[in-house]
Amino acid sequence: MAELREPGPHIVDVLRMADATGRPAVQPRCGVGGHREMLRLLEELSTTGADVLTVTIDSHTRLRQYATAQRLLCDSPGDLNGYPLVAHGWRRGRELRARVPHPLQVRHGSPDARDLFAIALASGITSFEGGGIDYNLPYSKDIPLRTTLGSWRRIDAVCGVLAKDGVLVDRELFGTLSAVLMPPSISLAITLLEAAAAAREGVRCVSPAYPQSGEMHQDIAALRAIRVLGQRYLGPDIEVFPVLHEFMGPFPRTPQYANFLIMYGGLTARLGRASKVVSKTAKEGYGIPDAAANTEGILNTILGTSDLLDFVRVDEDRIAEEESWILQEVGELVEPLFSAEDLLGGVVEAFQTGRLDIPFSASVHAHSDVVPARDRGGAVRYADPGALPFSSATRSRHARQLSARAGAANRTTSLIERITRDINYFLDKERTVLPAIDERPLP
Ligand code: 5AD
Repeated sequence: MAELREPGPHIVDVLRMADATGRPAVQPRCGVGGHREMLRLLEELSTTGADVLTVTIDSHTRLRQYATAQRLLCDSPGDLNGYPLVAHGWRRGRELRARVPHPLQVRHGSPDARDLFAIALASGITSFEGGGIDYNLPYSKDIPLRTTLGSWRRIDAVCGVLAKDGVLVDRELFGTLSAVLMPPSISLAITLLEAAAAAREGVRCVSPAYPQSGEMHQDIAALRAIRVLGQRYLGPDIEVFPVLHEFMGPFPRTPQYANFLIMYGGLTARLGRASKVVSKTAKEGYGIPDAAANTEGILNTILGTSDLLDFVRVDEDRIAEEESWILQEVGELVEPLFSAEDLLGGVVEAFQTGRLDIPFSASVHAHSDVVPARDRGGAVRYADPGALPFSSATRSRHARQLSARAGAANRTTSLIERITRDINYFLDKERTVLPAIDERPLP
């Protein structure tokens, strides 16, 4: 077991330090096919001020197509959209670990990540993203939830055994889900259910991630609610580290506005007291970022988390109100499931009936009857909560919040036009703030 201990600071120490100082740790995504290229990339990003680095895994490995990943690695590593860790093997994984002083995390999107997890662990990587719901519904068309919950349970059980031996594995949960207008209570409910399932297997450290909606009060409230939910439903033995994903929707086209949004994400993470923020780049929408673009995204995120912005004051009453609504909604979603004997069976059944649901799911195993929309201030609300078991107070609050939105516009535009506009929120904002962009060629 001693061999699994890491040379640099452990991920959990980095996250604890972030909580103690009030400055969220910053983490970019990064992964290229070739081993030498990956070493170079990590070394370059390790000098940027990022606190945690990533091994982003390629799509073939995510889908357990190891032979294809291996072939591409030999023939054209540049065609891989990430690092094929299984094909490279654990010795090279250890070399990645040894080369940089930062903790590494494996990020992927695999419905069945057992092999990948084994190689990550053997590489000395003790931070691993994903869960049985969040790495299924947004990514796979037709894999039953029972199957993915089962394979992720095995991963969590290994973490449980390691925890008993004093080796903590940080299990990050992908609350971004389908990444489009995700109502906070859905994101938080699903990562909470996954965290509870993990805790039952002995996991001691979870990092529920939440996607920035872009409305500051709502985002701060959601991040702060994650810690309250952890205390309320997971108990004092589980460490909970809230993570913010910088805006995951359609990104501004100009580097100036994109970098502004990235800095805004850093500030949101700080004000929400997140333990960590996963940074974006101004190249979002143009493909996988190179090291220079990634560096710029990290630096702009760090600026947003800096104490130079401590003069910024937010309306704490409004945030407290948002937070109490989010907590109530999450309670309405999860409490019927927590009170049942069989948590995972209850989750499967709840998705079958639509009592758990996510909007815009790629999978046939979620109804996707939930329709989100932004209110006048930009916060994400439920235009239609589908079959979610919300109280009438919750339902009528969302209806009220949305009806306060410019009435005439609601009447003259179709639902699909409104949703599209809400998804393209920051593209519209960019045009408003920088009206000259339409006249200029794109970079
Ligand atoms: N390197 C860096 N970023 C990546 N992303 C996906 N694969 C990689 C990679 N190999 C980013 C996308 C998007 C997010 C979902 O992940 O650019 O921002």
